[in-house]
Amino acid sequence: MTPKVGLLLSRIRVEEKLLIQALNRRGVNYDTIDDRRVIFDIQNNGWNSYDVIVERCVSHSRALYALLLFRDWGIPTVNTYEVAENCGNKLLTTSALVRARIPTPLTKIAFTPQSALEAIEEMGYPVVLKPGVGSWGRLLSKINDREAAETVLEHKQVLGSYHHSIYYIQEYIHKPGRDIRVFVVGDETICAIYRDSEHWITNTARGGKASNCPVTPELNELCLASARAVGGGVLALDVFEDPDRGLLVNEINYTMEFRNSIDTTGVDIPAKVVDYVLDVAKNGGERRRVSG
Ligand SMILES: Nc1ncnc2c1ncn2[C@@H]1O[C@H](COP(=O)(O)OP(=O)(O)OP(=O)(O)O)[C@@H](O)[C@H]1O
Ligand SMILES: [Mg+2]
Repeated sequence: MTPKVGLLLSRIRVEEKLLIQALNRRGVNYDTIDDRRVIFDIQNNGWNSYDVIVERCVSHSRALYALLLFRDWGIPTVNTYEVAENCGNKLLTTSALVRARIPTPLTKIAFTPQSALEAIEEMGYPVVLKPGVGSWGRLLSKINDREAAETVLEHKQVLGSYHHSIYYIQEYIHKPGRDIRVFVVGDETICAIYRDSEHWITNTARGGKASNCPVTPELNELCLASARAVGGGVLALDVFEDPDRGLLVNEINYTMEFRNSIDTTGVDIPAKVVDYVLDVAKNGGERRRVSG
């Protein structure tokens, strides 16, 4: 019997369209589920006809709560709740990576503007201040001196939401005008791209130019170990090349974008994702039968 797949999404962006095409090509039985209209009935789950749910929400909170419910109902998901929790928050990601002894940029956490300033001064300039939850390089600050630090911290205190009072402070890595975006699916590093930019923020969503990056054994091992450290699955990792320390893992994304990386690498990323999803459905189904 072919598995039934649920695609939980907010909007059909390019990635969702590509995943839908890949599902169609495989002849997979699937539904799309709009997170703006979904209602979860906690007592009477009603989702047991699905063998696996693929989470593609734009909002981290929606993803997190939906994945938690599916986990509690015993329905396999890609990715898991644990992975979304670890990757959706940079503090948790860094801590998981450090626990697994993965090299990462030095990071400090502080809870008040005063202690954040002290941490920044201790670290030395420039530093990077990031919101714990966020993406597309939004609200990242590269702080080059004390005056800038004071200004950004005051702005955050006065204008920021609660999230901005958790100060995530990172040493600035003098990367060579680029970083590396690596795609891991299950036990495989499927491909990687360089993101070159004149700007210190290299995200392709911010104008970074993508080119193919060979997956060396070193990059492969580092990324598989990093993926394992956050729970594994379908992941996109940001890796920096530090001139002295070599490869450092910056962060891991769990609802990854990949539109710019298929032609660049020649790897059919959505097909690889669908293979993995079908695998999870199959293994989850076996587990469900065994646990009865
Ligand atoms: N500590 C750092 N040193 C140097 N450059 C950095 C540092 N942190 C971030 N950057 C640059 O900014 C980019 C975005 O940072 P990061 O990935 O941490 O944030 P993001 O907004 O979560 O991005 P994403 O959309 O990938 O989730 C990185 O890809 C890198 O180019
Ligand atoms: Mg990033």
